[in-house]
Amino acid sequence: MSRPLQPGERVLLFDSKGRRYLVTLAEGGEFHTHSGPVPHAELIGAEEGTTVRSSRGARYVVVRPTLAEVVLKMPRGAQVIYPKDLGPILMMADVFPGARVFESGLGSGALSMTLLRAGAEITGYELRPDFAARARANVAGFLGPAALDRYHISVRDAYDGMDEQGFDRMVLDLPEPWRLVKPAEEALRPGGILVSYLPTIGQVSTLRDVLARSGFGMAETVEILQRSWHVEGQSVRPDHRMVAHTGFLTSARLLVPGGVVHETPLAPAEEDRLDPPVAGTD
Ligand SMILES: C[S@@+](CC[C@H](N)C(=O)[O-])C[C@H]1O[C@@H](n2cnc3c(N)ncnc32)[C@H](O)[C@@H]1O
Repeated sequence: MSRPLQPGERVLLFDSKGRRYLVTLAEGGEFHTHSGPVPHAELIGAEEGTTVRSSRGARYVVVRPTLAEVVLKMPRGAQVIYPKDLGPILMMADVFPGARVFESGLGSGALSMTLLRAGAEITGYELRPDFAARARANVAGFLGPAALDRYHISVRDAYDGMDEQGFDRMVLDLPEPWRLVKPAEEALRPGGILVSYLPTIGQVSTLRDVLARSGFGMAETVEILQRSWHVEGQSVRPDHRMVAHTGFLTSARLLVPGGVVHETPLAPAEEDRLDPPVAGTD
């Protein structure tokens, strides 16, 4: 169905060098470039995918931005989690519509936007009021004000523990998540999943030690590497540069006390290596 661009909408302009610019459309507005302005009037009423020209002839394609594009371009307080990690977090935490998720800290709200878009109901704790306000504004800016009905945030120290219980998932992006393992045993429901994003392996090691001595089991840690490719005529090769490191993702599940599973099971890839699938015989 045709859905022309409207005043007040955020759009992404994409130039011939692949650079992206986030612009909010306004009646009478102009987007200023090195090769002259693009009047918003040329964008308002256009279909996504339309190419427009600046006054001196530079070409720009206009589209509505994806969540990943907004996350990389939106105003930031704290460092955001990159899209390459946001997608896997949704899978590792197995976020579903209506899931009750505890999140801390909120930072710029990139992870919150991702969880809310997947249908979660978030209780979020953030230490800094300015970051909490930024996260809230980013959520409303991308998902609309109605999403705030599922975003219950408080300015408080998560290490002091949570007031509520019965969470399905807990997703943490703060420096010492191991301090929340004990409270999480009370706040998550049995079978609930904890996922933590951590930038350094020393932090991961501490978290895994604490998890190993807790009611959590089935712990796994992964790092997501994403390498983009240059594809132009006969020149097809990996790009020279990549984001070499962002963080490690660790997940664990809350088990019923008194169970017999004490060892961390092998990750599926390791199981395959030890017991490879049997090849056909003919
Ligand atoms: C890296 S940022 C989170 C970024 C966020 N995940 C995103 O994608 O935009 C870490 C946040 O944790 C908050 N924080 C650190 N310690 C905290 C604590 N004890 N309780 C609550 N928030 C905390 C910081 O203020 C900061 O906003």
